[in-house]
Formats: sequence, C-alpha cells, structure tokens
Amino acid sequence: MSFILGIDTSCDETSIAVLEIESGKVFSNVISSQIDDHAEFGGVVPELASRKHMENLNVVYKKALKEAGISEFQISKIAVTQTPGLMGCLLVGICFAKALAYRLKIPLIPIQHLEAHLFSPFIEKDPTFPFLGLVVSGGHTAYYAVNSYDDIKLLGQTVDDAAGEAFDKGAKVMGLGYPGGPLVDKFAQNGDAKRFAFTVPRVKMGEQYLSFSGIKTAVVHHFHSLENFTDTDRNDLCASLQTVIVKSLIQKAKYFLKRGNYKAIALSGGVAMNSLLRKEVNQLEKSKKITVFLSAPTFCTDNAAMVAELARFRNPIEDIFPLHARPSQKLRAKDIAHKK
Ligand code: KG4
Ligand code: ZN
Repeated sequence: MSFILGIDTSCDETSIAVLEIESGKVFSNVISSQIDDHAEFGGVVPELASRKHMENLNVVYKKALKEAGISEFQISKIAVTQTPGLMGCLLVGICFAKALAYRLKIPLIPIQHLEAHLFSPFIEKDPTFPFLGLVVSGGHTAYYAVNSYDDIKLLGQTVDDAAGEAFDKGAKVMGLGYPGGPLVDKFAQNGDAKRFAFTVPRVKMGEQYLSFSGIKTAVVHHFHSLENFTDTDRNDLCASLQTVIVKSLIQKAKYFLKRGNYKAIALSGGVAMNSLLRKEVNQLEKSKKITVFLSAPTFCTDNAAMVAELARFRNPIEDIFPLHARPSQKLRAKDIAHKK
C-alpha cells in the first residue's frame, strides 16, 4: 500500500491526514481546532493563528502517523494547501511540507483549498460528473460547475460576506458566542421562522451573485426592536436568520441547476453542517432529479483529508523550492500540474 499525507493550515485548524492512494481510504484525519484560542476575540486573529500552527504542526503530524499506523517512510506523496487562506498560516504549512518532501525525497502537490472542499463530499466515494458544487464556509460562498478533477468553473459567489459570516455576525449581535453558526442552528430548532420578516437580498450585479452583509443589519434591527430578549425571542430570531440564509443558498442552487446539465449536487464547507441546509439540499434529489452528495460532518469544516483526496488526482510540481503561499484564490498555471 502507498500513502499520501495531506496538510491544511489555511485558517484556524491545524490538520494532517493520511490516505491510501489507490483506494482513497482515510487512515487518519487529525484536526486541531483553535476555536478556543480565538473565541475571546470574537473571530480569527491571523497572527495568533499562524503562531498556533507552528506550535501544533509537529504534534498533529506525529498523531496522524500514529493513528494511521504507519511510519513516515511509508509516505510516498505530500499534499499541502497553497491558496487561499491567511498568509502566515499557509506559510507554516507550506514550509513544513517542503521540508518534509525534501527530507523524505518524495513529491509535493499544492492544492487550492476551495477545490479541496468541493471534493470533500466524495471522500471514500466515487464522484458523479458533472456536478454543481457549493462551497459554503466562514470565508467563502461559491457555486462551481465541476466537469472533472481538472475542469472546475466558478459560476457565482457572494459579493460581500460569506454565509458563515452571516451566521457568525448575527449570533454576535444576539450575544450567543463564537462561532455562531452551530448555536444559531441549535436555537433555531425551537424557533418560529415566520415571526421576523427577513427577505432574501437581491444583488444588482447579476443573478449569479449572492449577498449576505445586509442580513446582519436586519438582525440588529429586530434585536433592538425587542424590549427584553427572551429565550423565545432568541430562538425565533435564530430560526428566521437561518431560514433566510438557507433560502438564499437554495434559490441560487436552483438557478444554476436550471442552467446546467448536472447529474449531481455536492455540498461542502463549514455551513454544510447546518441541519436545515442539509435537509433542503437533500430535497433537491426528488424535486430536481439529481443525486445529492453532502460532506460528512468531519469533512465539512477545514480538514486535511480533503486536501489529500484531491491530490490523488493531481500531479506533483517539478521543483518544490519556488512554491509560495498565495492568500488570494488564484493559482498560477505554472504552480500546478494537472493530470492529462
Ligand atoms: O469551513 P469552515 O471551517 O471555515 C472556513 O474555511 O471558513 O467554516 C466555518 C463556518 C463558521 O462560520 C461557522 O459558524 C459555520 O461554518 N458553521 C455553521 C454550522 N457549523 C459551522 N453554520 C451554520 N450551521 C452550522 N451547524
Ligand atoms: Zn475552508
């Protein structure tokens, strides 16, 4: 058996995974979350995040090998997130990956983090092409037409906040804590989504776009209109907030499904954990006659298994030394060598 090691340090999770190359079986997927380190600041502090990655990486590496039951000499390829992400955070992972590739004399494959998310619903499963891919996270909300492992086209995205940010900011207004998404999801279970009137924002730039920044203002408005914020108010406001975000995401999915010839839809990213969104996407299977793939909960938020999974289908770079972190999304063609 031969193994690929995946590394992701793009934001606030230090993650290393070991996958068997042929079958794609996940032997380990260790995720060290920094949520508690950033919670007191109400969001990710980039400088703190990169320092924590430096502290954690070697520990996570050893744990990933141990859980997989292999020695480092059994790794035959390394995959690392190169873009997008926080500059300092990406650098820590890339330097570690380069040094390891050099020391073990094995090839290195740079991976685009959003593309890794796109394929996370297919870990230990075969993908169905072409599929409409939704990446819905704390940093991104985007729709892609995915025709193969190499042919990925961006169809549309948010013009401002990501869907996860809308959950987090709304939760912050209500004083619920960070990250807000899971808490809004929890309180919404007992809430009345019809009580507060939220409308799906329209974007002047074109129908392929979404917008979430106005939703926070709506939460502020309703929150301040309440005399004292009871548990019922909280639950109802959470339900309304969650419903408008999910409605907006589903409307856009239907818009793209109508305009493409997709066999499947695949949902990924941290917000793919949301119970209402999972339910609504599942319903598209019947109403739109397509196969639905949802990321398993452990592969929704940032993880290295998805990085290693995509790298199974990509070629390594010839020269590891010029490889550099890129905080913005685009990869230069020369950095990536797709399989023919
Ligand atoms: O993918 P992720 O770990 O980080 C980024 O790469 O951005 O996603 C984190 C986001 C946060 O905004 C968090 O609030 C949201 O995912 N999230 C949820 C749920 N679980 C996590 N949002 C809504 N409902 C959830 N159950
Ligand atoms: Zn991510």
